[in-house]
Amino acid sequence: MNKDRTESRILLRRGRAEDLDALVALERRAFTGDHLSRRQYAHHLRSASAEVIVATAGTVLHGKALLFFRRGQDIARLYSIAVAHEARGQGVGEKLLQACERAAIARGCTRLRLEVRQDNPGAQRLYERLGYRRFGARIGYYEDGADAWRYERRLVAAR
Ligand SMILES: CC(C)(COP(=O)(O)OP(=O)(O)OC[C@H]1O[C@@H](n2cnc3c(N)ncnc32)[C@H](O)[C@@H]1OP(=O)(O)O)[C@@H](O)C(=O)NCCC(=O)NCCS
Repeated sequence: MNKDRTESRILLRRGRAEDLDALVALERRAFTGDHLSRRQYAHHLRSASAEVIVATAGTVLHGKALLFFRRGQDIARLYSIAVAHEARGQGVGEKLLQACERAAIARGCTRLRLEVRQDNPGAQRLYERLGYRRFGARIGYYEDGADAWRYERRLVAAR
């Protein structure tokens, strides 16, 4: 797929109920385990303490991210981010991450935190390139027993 064309067609917006089928399908294809269920997505799409952000081109869902917020806490949590295989390496993940940061800033958060599998160096490179720093680990965090690194970025408005 042509890099410039895909990137320029991408629209970032909040997920809606009609995105549910595509969200669940992308979740299944992007991750081998720890899948969010349809029911969980339906809940998060309606929840005041969650935000689903989607990257679309026309009617096609290219990527999605799920953020959690806690009342009274200025740390937002990026729970999940994924880009469809055919759209990877074209900046969609970066755009999604930046949209997550804007959403967190809009809710008054000053930091964004996330977990990433220690055996996922590609995603770690993306986070580090965008200014995230590793600050800890969660042992046995994933369903299959794999460990996570914890990353954090201080949020600055207007990025
Ligand atoms: C990690 C992920 C969201 C990145 O999305 P993306 O749209 O490919 O990201 P971008 O194009 O903005 O950035 C690409 C960067 O991601 C990294 N990357 C990770 N997996 C990649 C892949 N399959 N193809 C290309 N780049 C990949 C590269 O380091 C690249 O950095 P570079 O441009 O400096 O080389 C995507 O690869 C993905 O969905 N992976 C599977 C799910 C996953 O691992 N999610 C993260 C869980 S914490």
